[in-house]
Amino acid sequence: AELKQLVRRLPKTELHLHIEGSLEPDMVFALAERNGISLPYASAAELAQKYDFENLQSFLDLYYQATDVLQTEEDFFDLTWAYLQRCAAENVVHVEIFFDPQSHTDRGIPFAEVVQGIDRALQQAQSELAISSQLIMCFLRHLPEDSALETWQQAQPWLHLIHGVGLDSSESGFPPELFQRVFAQARAAGLKCVAHAGEEGPADYIEQALDLLAVDRIDHGVRITESDTLMRRVAIEGIALTVCPLSNVRLCVYDQLADHPLLSLLDDGLQVMINSDDPAYFGGYLCANYDAVIDALAPNQAQIVQLVKNSFAASFMPEVEKLARL
Ligand code: ADE
Ligand code: ZN
Repeated sequence: AELKQLVRRLPKTELHLHIEGSLEPDMVFALAERNGISLPYASAAELAQKYDFENLQSFLDLYYQATDVLQTEEDFFDLTWAYLQRCAAENVVHVEIFFDPQSHTDRGIPFAEVVQGIDRALQQAQSELAISSQLIMCFLRHLPEDSALETWQQAQPWLHLIHGVGLDSSESGFPPELFQRVFAQARAAGLKCVAHAGEEGPADYIEQALDLLAVDRIDHGVRITESDTLMRRVAIEGIALTVCPLSNVRLCVYDQLADHPLLSLLDDGLQVMINSDDPAYFGGYLCANYDAVIDALAPNQAQIVQLVKNSFAASFMPEVEKLARL
C-alpha cells in the first residue's frame, strides 16, 4: 500500500498509449448517439463484456470497430481530453500519444479533423493541466507500405504537430522490413521513430526495427528475453522498451502477470518502464498498471523509482526538461 501511494505521489510519463485505446465503452455509446450511429450492442456494459481477448488480433477487431464512432474534430478532442484528465488525476506530467490515422482516413474522415482535434486537447492540457505531450503517428502494418506512404504524404501539412512515427496493428507476418521506405522518409524529415516489435512477434522483429527502421525506442519488446545477444545489445545501446503489463496479460502474451519479465529486464539493465497501451480495453490506466505489477511481482521501492525514472529518461522530452525531472 505504501508503494502504491508512492506511485501516485511521483510525477510520471506515459510513452505507450494509443489514444483510440482510451475510448471507454460509455464514450462509444455517447459518440454513437451524437453521430447517429447504431451499435450492435444494447449497452456499454454489454460491449464491455466482449473485452475478453484471445490474442492481439481478437482485440484489434473490436478496437477498429469501436473507432467508427469517432467522426468529427470534436470527437477526437473529447477522446483526448478525457484521457488527459485521467493523466492529471494520476500525476502523469508528460505523455507521448499514438494515433492511427489510417483507421480514420480509410473510412473517409479527413486527416485534418483527426490531428486538429487531438492537438487542441494537447494544447489545452499544456495550459490548463501543465501536462506536456508529443504526438506519434502510427502506420498500420496490416496494410501495405504504399498506404503508409500515402498517409505520410497526407501528414506533410501537419508535421509541426507530429514528433514521431510508429508501427502498430497485427504483428505476426508483418515484419518491420516491409516499412523501410516510409521510415527512411520520416527519419530524413527529423521525426523520431518507434515500432511495436516483440509483442507477439519474434525477437528478430526487434532486431529488424533497430537495423532496418533505425528506431529510437521499441514498443513492448518483451520477447527480447528469447535472445541473450539482443538483450546485451539493447542494454549497451540504451534502447528503451515501452512495456505494457496489463496489455500483455489481457492479450495472452503471458498467462498471468506473475510470469511477466518486467523486473528481470530491469535488473538486467534494460531501460524498461510501465505503460497502459489501450487502457479502456485492458483493465486500467497507468496507476492500475503499477498497482498490478506491485501485487503480482512485489518490486522493491528502488525498482519502482527506477521504472519511473526510466519513463522520463526514455521520453522524447527536450533534454533540459528531462534533466530537471531526474
Ligand atoms: N494497436 C493498439 N494497441 C496495439 C497493440 N498492443 N499492439 C499492436 N497494435 C496496437
Ligand atoms: Zn501498443
